[in-house]
Amino acid sequence: MDVDDPVTQYIAVEKEAYDEAARQRPRVAERQFRPGKQGIWHRRISRLIDWHREGDFDLPVDLVRPYALPVLARVEQRIPLKYQYRGLNALRELARAHVMFPEMIAGGTPLKVLDLSAGGCGVADVYGHYGHDVTIRDYFVTGADGMPRNSYTAIHQELGLECEHFDGRERPYDFESDSFDLVLCHQALDAYGPVSSWSEAVGEMLRIARRSVGLVFNPPYPRTPETEAEAAAFIAKLSADHVTDEGVCPDTKLVTLRIEKM
Ligand SMILES: C[S@@+](CC[C@H](N)C(=O)[O-])C[C@H]1O[C@@H](n2cnc3c(N)ncnc32)[C@H](O)[C@@H]1O
Repeated sequence: MDVDDPVTQYIAVEKEAYDEAARQRPRVAERQFRPGKQGIWHRRISRLIDWHREGDFDLPVDLVRPYALPVLARVEQRIPLKYQYRGLNALRELARAHVMFPEMIAGGTPLKVLDLSAGGCGVADVYGHYGHDVTIRDYFVTGADGMPRNSYTAIHQELGLECEHFDGRERPYDFESDSFDLVLCHQALDAYGPVSSWSEAVGEMLRIARRSVGLVFNPPYPRTPETEAEAAAFIAKLSADHVTDEGVCPDTKLVTLRIEKM
């Protein structure tokens, strides 16, 4: 391992920036990013770097580096700590791409991708890096300035992404049929309604997709033994009705599902 390589140095560089911010604003640091809280995400980043290295996968330096946005601005803009690390956002989605859509990061024809509920925008960062045309949507609320925004607006600005409001509970979705090669919805179906409504939501994604849909399943909300059983039955039925490939997200250990549109 080359200790001078920027990917190996990534966590140390982030840590130094947070230490410096803590020196400037100790009370903010205590509330928002004390070392114990940072450590959770450092370990996740470290495990993901190891996972890619063990698989002998490419780790693009452009993706594993901090946002230019200063630490205290990340906090002021209310980006959740988990999503303040560009490297973590990207490594999580790079690992998911290896599991779900390896062809998307292996060269080849650029495709049109729709990422619903994009959060920290790791999909746009990673798939954009590999030449794909990614459209993002996410749920917005109206800010104090009257402008629609969410906790990820500063990331959209930093990455130069246009993001429009999307509410997964309001169907049909406002996209033409077969208008994107790939439609992705990672860890957000639970916000689109109870498990009984997931079939309609995924049906919409399959209508919009020309080729495939990719899902990463959060536990259902509310999480009870009954709703978990319902969610498991839902995933089993999707697999019975479609050509699918089920896997596990290397970061979150959540179930992933690739569905082919036949
Ligand atoms: C757990 S985050 C997942 C973010 C990202 N896709 C990922 O995998 O890291 C959940 C996402 O769902 C979005 N969300 C919450 N309620 C929503 C709704 N009603 N419609 C659409 N998206 C929603 C949030 O803004 C957030 O981006």
